[in-house]
Amino acid sequence: MHISWKKLAIALAILPFVVVLAAWIGFFNVGASSGHWKITEWFLHFAMRSAVRTYALAVDVPGALPRHAVQPAAGHFARGCAICHGAPGEPRSPVAMRMLPQPPDLAGIIGEWSDAELFRIVKHGVRFTGMPAWPTQDRDDEVWAMVAFLRELPSMDEATYRDLAYGERLTPPADAAGTLPQALADCARCHGKDGLGRGPAIPVLAGQSEAYLLESLRAYAEEGRASGLMSLPATEAGPQFWPDLAKHFAALPAMHPGGGGEPALVWRGKEIAERGVKDANVPACLGCHGRQDRSPLYPSIAGQPARYIEAQLGLFRAGKRGGTRFGHLMANAAKGLTDDDVRALAAYFSRSAAPSATATR
Ligand code: HEC
Ligand code: HEC
Ligand code: HEC
Repeated sequence: MHISWKKLAIALAILPFVVVLAAWIGFFNVGASSGHWKITEWFLHFAMRSAVRTYALAVDVPGALPRHAVQPAAGHFARGCAICHGAPGEPRSPVAMRMLPQPPDLAGIIGEWSDAELFRIVKHGVRFTGMPAWPTQDRDDEVWAMVAFLRELPSMDEATYRDLAYGERLTPPADAAGTLPQALADCARCHGKDGLGRGPAIPVLAGQSEAYLLESLRAYAEEGRASGLMSLPATEAGPQFWPDLAKHFAALPAMHPGGGGEPALVWRGKEIAERGVKDANVPACLGCHGRQDRSPLYPSIAGQPARYIEAQLGLFRAGKRGGTRFGHLMANAAKGLTDDDVRALAAYFSRSAAPSATATR
């Protein structure tokens, strides 16, 4: 067949105009009611899987998934994901079932994705589908916690899920905001009624400085401190309840950890806490965190879980922690720390008792 190159070029040149004209007339049906054509559906899914697979090649996968942080991830899933995807014992909402594409029941399909692919999907979301990105792009550690939770989802029974996601309440919470008791019940899902935290990834709120708790809630909601896990509850509770929430948790009895730990590590941590590391410009931690007359915005570190301390120091070192208006002081203090220093400091502080800062509160 004879092809006229000239005619082909003209046809190609006017094609975009034809498409725009068709769109302008309203030729393409954007309604979700009738679904996609089979070929469109196949193509979209094919394109999504291919893109996820390719972009996942650049993902740095940790040696082991952070299983110690599955509880807060489950708590977040109940609020931020189950409405579309359902959860053990909770069917997907009828509204979500009318979405196009329909959000899948995840338990059945998690096995089809690798860890890196799940990370990619949860961190960045999926365009044109309603699948949202993680609330912040600065917290890969939180995204990995969600991946660890998703891996456990297929074999998770209803009771286990409810315990992880709702704690003592064991039922899906009604609207978190509204009254102070409702807001407190929402916090308890992850922080526990006693404010001691439901696991090693959660900070102890009990006995913490009230001013620091209040300013931290503000920082989460206003994104001065990046956390996908905390921005949602802080925002949902609302600024009108922040002062009472901070007061409530600050008044609860703090924990008194009973020593222990690997002696050499704890000793090294104590040394840095008291004297700093001169050569690396690391100041003595207790110069700020241990003095009774310190600013109430300097939190108490003693008695925090070792994993939490390590994670926060890691974020400060990477320039991703943010915080209150004094956050930059801590970022400077953490700059010169090595991985070994961080482990030693976490071992020391997690086992020491909190010196109260009541003088300035
Ligand atoms: C507003 C609804 C909505 C919310 C909220 C939502 N998703 Fe999705 N999600 C979707 C939709 C729709 C898809 C299907 C995308 C596709 O097929 O291309 C999807 C796909 C996924 C997939 C890939 C599964 C597959 O094979 O298609 C994973 C994993 C996932 N979501 C996890 C989550 C997690 C974790 C959260 C909470 C942090 C979440 N989603 C929140 C709508 C939602
Ligand atoms: C889904 C689980 C979850 C819920 C619900 C939750 N938190 Fe948190 N909270 C966390 C995690 C995880 C962190 C650590 C976040 C980080 O890395 O910055 C945290 C940190 C905090 C901090 C900072 C403490 C510190 O030492 O820096 C405060 C204050 C706080 N939460 C208060 C609350 C209050 C008040 C509520 C209820 C309105 C609440 N949280 C609900 C999981 C949760
Ligand atoms: C110059 C004062 C100062 C020094 C020195 C200092 N810090 Fe801090 N630190 C702060 C302030 C202020 C914050 C609160 C940051 C915010 O959220 O605004 C903080 C926060 C922290 C946190 C996070 C607490 C939480 O609940 O999230 C940890 C962990 C911490 N510091 C450990 C250390 C260690 C370990 C050292 C010693 C190497 C140290 N700090 C030295 C001022 C200091």
